Amino acid sequence: MLNIPERIANGLATTGWYAGQSIFADELSARLAHRARRLADTHELHPARVGHNGGVQTNAQLRGDDTRWLAPASDDASERDAMAAVHALRVNLNQALFLGAQESELHFARYAPGAFYRTHRDRFRDDDARLVSLVFYLNDDWPDDAGGELMLYADDDSETVIIRVQPSAGTMVCFLSDRFPHEVLPANRERYSLTGWLRRA
Ligand code: OGA
Ligand code: MN
Repeated sequence: MLNIPERIANGLATTGWYAGQSIFADELSARLAHRARRLADTHELHPARVGHNGGVQTNAQLRGDDTRWLAPASDDASERDAMAAVHALRVNLNQALFLGAQESELHFARYAPGAFYRTHRDRFRDDDARLVSLVFYLNDDWPDDAGGELMLYADDDSETVIIRVQPSAGTMVCFLSDRFPHEVLPANRERYSLTGWLRRA
């Protein structure tokens, strides 16, 4: 029986993706969910931006989530614990896959009811720093018919669905950032996640 980091390394090495049990313990997902809701209540999440190097803009046609980056030395224990877990995963994947990821970055994301993120790739055209995309879902009791799934598509313009993932707490997804077009479908309720990337320096 492989442990979770081994299953993630296996997935990345074979298919290029992993979707399954999270590296976060349930109690950490619960504390992060609490933290994310708190940040939303105090208006500390802000409309996400798209683009890079001068082309940065908010674009509600493309994405409608509100986000907040985690600070490297946060005073919030759940944020520090999440960063420590992602750091450990990064070290692990560097050893298993010779990934060469020197940094991690993470942000909270909240999709209000009806918000979505249209099909996109996570790597900027002019910047190949992002190696692996990570998404940790923070939603308890997500009903089957609530929408809000992550759709991962084949990298050949065929629109073939590779996986469709419910954003339920305890589930994480990770994939090679340059490989898979993906989108977030609108949901009929708030959808919280912690999303991030393992990157080159
Ligand atoms: C992203 C993204 C997927 C998700 O933030 O780039 O694709 O399921 N998120 O939240
Ligand atoms: Mn994405």
